[in-house]
Amino acid sequence: MSRRTVVVIGATGSQGGPVARELLQSPELYHVRALTRDPSKPAAQELAELGAEVQAFDLNAGIDALLRAFTNADAVFAMTDFWATRSAQAEVIQGRTIIDAAAQTSTLEHFIWSSLPDPEKVSGGILKNIHHWKSKSLVADYIQQQYPGLWGKTTVVLFPNYFENCLSHPQRYLSQPDAQGVYHMYLPHSPSTVMPNGSIRDTGKLVRLILEDGATYFTKTVAFYSEAMSEAEKQAMIGKKYGLQTVYHVISPDEHQKKLESQGLSPEIALDYTEQLLMFEKFGNVCDAAGIIQAKEISGLCLQSWAEFLEENDILANMKAV
Ligand SMILES: NC(=O)c1ccc[n+]([C@@H]2O[C@H](COP(=O)([O-])OP(=O)(O)OC[C@H]3O[C@@H](n4cnc5c(N)ncnc54)[C@H](OP(=O)(O)O)[C@@H]3O)[C@@H](O)[C@H]2O)c1
Repeated sequence: MSRRTVVVIGATGSQGGPVARELLQSPELYHVRALTRDPSKPAAQELAELGAEVQAFDLNAGIDALLRAFTNADAVFAMTDFWATRSAQAEVIQGRTIIDAAAQTSTLEHFIWSSLPDPEKVSGGILKNIHHWKSKSLVADYIQQQYPGLWGKTTVVLFPNYFENCLSHPQRYLSQPDAQGVYHMYLPHSPSTVMPNGSIRDTGKLVRLILEDGATYFTKTVAFYSEAMSEAEKQAMIGKKYGLQTVYHVISPDEHQKKLESQGLSPEIALDYTEQLLMFEKFGNVCDAAGIIQAKEISGLCLQSWAEFLEENDILANMKAV
């Protein structure tokens, strides 16, 4: 195999970082072009030290910036960050510009799009407010509808609920202790409602495998998660590990919405987030649908479990830090 140039959008972030770092372990196979708005930031410097070509780039700078970033690219890992703008419209514009540039990049052999399911399609039109899923799914549709040639070499990856969310946002993802030291979790889910979960650090392994098996994954959608688990089960495992008493409370969607608003989220974002949880309550694990490849079933790919994640991370320190 000749050395391939892989462009990683979001290379300083949770998704793109592991992709860049994984490929940088094989410099004889991969030249990694890591894109960031700020090449001087520590995460970008670290990639440069590992051998990446770090390029300054802003997704809002238009198609010419993307065409420059994609020059001679053999493959692209592309993502957009809804939370940077909290605007589905902005995310769709960024995504479509990426696609327009990818379609014009004659050297491109493989395009990987970080996505989520179309919430309206999978809920039969019931859940209309999960904007950060819808925007990504519209971009996936755009590839298929506008650029059949690009679609022919595209893999769509549906991302999981990151295990790491409990480290980055403990207030939202971990139980809170009361004065008696009992830990409480409040969600609009029955305790048996499962969601696709996984360690975002495994993105690197998965993307490498997809790149290396190439054509097997063209036009395919891959659901990336190691375990379909309920938050109640995750909470109980934390309780067991640390010998804590935990209680799981089912609250109404309205109560959940108000809780998020009290934590500073806008009503629109709180609804987006609440409906995302209701998706799994009402429609089950929507990532485990016919025609979607399940990453956890790919032979040779070992994805971290929640039990392993708990072994590796001091969750209790985060619970106390809230
Ligand atoms: N958290 C979850 O459980 C979860 C689950 C599924 C999907 N997602 C999706 O994951 C996405 C966030 O990805 P992440 O977790 O990797 O976020 P992250 O760790 O916050 O990183 C965001 C990355 O996006 C880059 N970026 C943002 N705006 C940019 C711009 N205008 N131009 C160029 N680069 C830009 C940043 O690069 P620089 O700052 O270096 O420029 C950074 O590398 C969101 O769209 C979210 O919906 C999250």
